[in-house]
Amino acid sequence: MIELRKLSVDDGMDVYVMLQEIPKKENGLMNNANGLSFEEYKEWLKRKYADSERISLVDGWKVPETTYWLYVDGEPVGFGTIRHFLTDALRKVGGHIGYGIAPKYREKGYGKKILGLLLREAGCLGIDRVLVTIQLDNAASKAVALANGGVITEQTDERILVWIDNAQKSSRFI
Ligand SMILES: CC(C)(COP(=O)(O)OP(=O)(O)OC[C@H]1O[C@@H](n2cnc3c(N)ncnc32)[C@H](O)[C@@H]1OP(=O)(O)O)[C@@H](O)C(=O)NCCC(=O)NCCS
Repeated sequence: MIELRKLSVDDGMDVYVMLQEIPKKENGLMNNANGLSFEEYKEWLKRKYADSERISLVDGWKVPETTYWLYVDGEPVGFGTIRHFLTDALRKVGGHIGYGIAPKYREKGYGKKILGLLLREAGCLGIDRVLVTIQLDNAASKAVALANGGVITEQTDERILVWIDNAQKSSRFI
């Protein structure tokens, strides 16, 4: 069984261990729980939960954001984040959705799956067009976004901008 679970302040050791396996920074994706003690992680969960309850802009880069875990047969294998809206800065770098799969679970289709499930959640948040920004050398993430109906609209020296028409439910890889 594959499912997304929303971050909760009650999350425990299974999520903590998974987050220690995902690098702190990889291809532009940040995992700020990497390197925290368990106690620090429990405090971090509270801050992340509060981020999802916000309704307004914090600054040009920080907007309300919800974090999810991808569970496969009861084991957390990766995480995803959804920014509830974009700023001008995030429209160039960052986008709406980020995702990461723990290294030992990669290349099993979970990247495509988590984005498909995150798109469904984004739809519930009222996001009809979803932006994913991807570094040029990140072939895996590009494949994940294109498999979910993504269309490359722009390429800079560093990244591609991929938009997904989220009203088109058939685009989702679920
Ligand atoms: C990007 C990421 C989430 C993909 O996860 P995954 O579970 O390996 O993805 P999938 O198994 O669904 O594979 C998707 C496609 O990418 C391909 N792929 C996977 N790893 C690859 C690699 N290292 N190089 C090239 N292609 C790769 C797969 O073969 C598959 O291709 P297909 O469409 O031809 O079948 C994962 O590599 C990751 O967590 N990377 C670090 C964080 C990151 O880059 N996040 C995205 C930021 S925008």
